[in-house]
Amino acid sequence: MAVAWHVRGVSQDTTVDPRWGRPHPLHDPVVLSRFRARPTDVLITTAPKAGTTWMQQILFQLREGGTEDFGTIHEVVPWLEYRPAGVGVDELLDRYEHLPAPRIFKTHCTFEQTPGVDRVKIVLSSRDPRDCCVSFYHHMMDMTDEALERVRMQRPQDFDSYFEQWMRIGSWYRNVVSWWPHRSDPNVLWLRYADMKADLTGCMRQITAHLGWSRTGEQLERAAELSSFRWMKANSERFTRQRTDAAPSFKPGGFIRRGEVGGHTELIRPEHEQRIRERCRADLPGDCLEFLGLA
Ligand code: PPS
Repeated sequence: MAVAWHVRGVSQDTTVDPRWGRPHPLHDPVVLSRFRARPTDVLITTAPKAGTTWMQQILFQLREGGTEDFGTIHEVVPWLEYRPAGVGVDELLDRYEHLPAPRIFKTHCTFEQTPGVDRVKIVLSSRDPRDCCVSFYHHMMDMTDEALERVRMQRPQDFDSYFEQWMRIGSWYRNVVSWWPHRSDPNVLWLRYADMKADLTGCMRQITAHLGWSRTGEQLERAAELSSFRWMKANSERFTRQRTDAAPSFKPGGFIRRGEVGGHTELIRPEHEQRIRERCRADLPGDCLEFLGLA
């Protein structure tokens, strides 16, 4: 049986330019259309499960020079296009105006939907689609009932039905297709999850060079320690709840889960693998497949 974990009953707002995308509890086109981007802003842009939260922590820690003095990562590095229930557009935009500079945001927007895309600094993280697919399955399985209800989604019944939905929604493909032509734009730095796993400090140096942020060796070391999987897992409540006073959106052990390269083999079978590779070959040019290790 096909399982609908997609969104039900979100009305379309026809007053906003369609370039900002379709309304969804996790994507507010009105916020995007009215957001005032600054050249110092840093936007972390990723396909879901490609290392977004890791990059939020890395950038926040690099900006601060390494600190444990924060509540949740979402309070200090907000998700740009996500407007929490009960928060008005004006209120949210006002909050954004008062964030300390340089402001850092997470987004899952495509290139076309990203406000100030030619002015802001972009740090992009990509990850093997098979690992993203499996990670998102666990994301759905580990979300609390309350959190699922909040974003109007349903838990998948099994991996196969989930896989069909993941392919149909296609956010991994859409994200990479839209950003790949801009990989060499001067304001874009594209990092791969596997490279970050192999040499986190080296990738963090690339980030500071890209952003023009000078940091001491000691600050860099501290920022890397606080961005390690070990530290983030041990402090997972800072990453699994939106606000310090909110309930976690995930069951214990969920979200900051395994953080591995190649962990997809637990669920991805040859028939899934073949479908993912075929879609990659259909949607992406050869140099992109090579870069992503999918050639
Ligand atoms: S989301 O929902 O799109 O914001 O998810 P996202 O943050 O992109 O992806 C979550 C996965 O990233 C892993 N993660 C890490 N891996 C390595 N090191 C660190 N420090 C780290 N922090 C988070 C997290 O465990 C999820 O991957 P899986 O494979 O599910 O473990």
